[in-house]
Amino acid sequence: MRRNNAPPRPATLAAQGLGWTDATTGAVVMPIQPATTYIRDPDNQYRRGRGYARADNPGYDQPQALLTALEGGAASVVLSSGMAAATTVFRALPLGAHVVAQKVMYWGLRRWIESHAATGHITVDFADASSLDALRDAVIPGRTRLVWIETPANPLWSVVDIAGAAAIAHAAGARLAVDSTAATPVLTRPLEHGADLVMHSATKYLNGHSDVVAGTLTAARDDPFWQSLVAERGNGGAILGSLEAYLLLRGMRTLFLRVARASASAQRIAEAMEAHPKVAAVLYPGLPTHPGHAVAARQMEGGFGGMLSIRVAGGEAAAIAAAARVELWKRATSLGGVESLVEHRASIEGAGTPVPPDLLRLSVGIEDPEDLIDDLDRALSG
Ligand SMILES: Cc1ncc(COP(=O)(O)O)c(C=O)c1O
Repeated sequence: MRRNNAPPRPATLAAQGLGWTDATTGAVVMPIQPATTYIRDPDNQYRRGRGYARADNPGYDQPQALLTALEGGAASVVLSSGMAAATTVFRALPLGAHVVAQKVMYWGLRRWIESHAATGHITVDFADASSLDALRDAVIPGRTRLVWIETPANPLWSVVDIAGAAAIAHAAGARLAVDSTAATPVLTRPLEHGADLVMHSATKYLNGHSDVVAGTLTAARDDPFWQSLVAERGNGGAILGSLEAYLLLRGMRTLFLRVARASASAQRIAEAMEAHPKVAAVLYPGLPTHPGHAVAARQMEGGFGGMLSIRVAGGEAAAIAAAARVELWKRATSLGGVESLVEHRASIEGAGTPVPPDLLRLSVGIEDPEDLIDDLDRALSG
């Protein structure tokens, strides 16, 4: 029953794209606006609020408003990729700012942070953020401006206590930013736990169909720092195309169905893999044996996500051989699409990676989980 005057629940907001309809035609899908420029009023004003498409695009309004509603934030922006979203935050920090980032997280961003620090713009310390003591030791009160965490984090799916991390960041005078790509707002809303910024690689679950590269940022407050991020998107030019913004919204409308299905299947697959003789370990926050399970159970709602990793008995060669034998799972990088992907993660990260060489990362899609288990079983059994 609809609660008196209560707003619709998040799954309803997503399915209906906030219920927006086109005022001109009544269309239940908002039009794609490809224009790069807009007419000035005769008196030289831009009263309709649009001037040039690098600054803004009407096609951003609906996905941004929906994401803001789902995350419970003050405002959101869509950008050209997850990396564009993340790096915009780091580039907006004042010269010499100290940053604490997670030791094992999405490797592409970790590498970029190292290279950005090497230019002298920021200084960085990497900490095992799944330990709040390690995080507390790494922040420098008065100097740390940003604490960056990812939870659950690639590719060990380690879990960070967001509320604990927020308290540590704030006590030091820093902001807490959370890469919530793997959790999605369906399972975790970091702002509710005290985070200041949420970032998504929208390439993954938000779009969900492996056909758009996009990123998002959502802020707890519309403050000057947030305004500097919004300005940087337009001025730096990391903008999303009109068609991509449309596809992103279309993907978001099925977000709740896809994430619920992927999470339930991942739980089932994790349990099956735990009992498999050719699997040495299963890394999935939904398993009581996972070190982050208790925290995940507190801050994730409705499931533990569609991402897990397995460590194959027999080491690196056995892991690569198993990945070579899958038929339904696709051997590919990325995650969060409707089709299931498997990846030997150390191969893509290369020398110096902290990822165990026997690890296969699994992105569970929305297929029948029994088919996925059968395929893995065949591949692992050789
Ligand atoms: C957790 C996470 N964060 C950020 C990124 C970067 O996003 P994008 O590839 O959209 O730039 C990725 C991409 O793999 C990711 O998995």
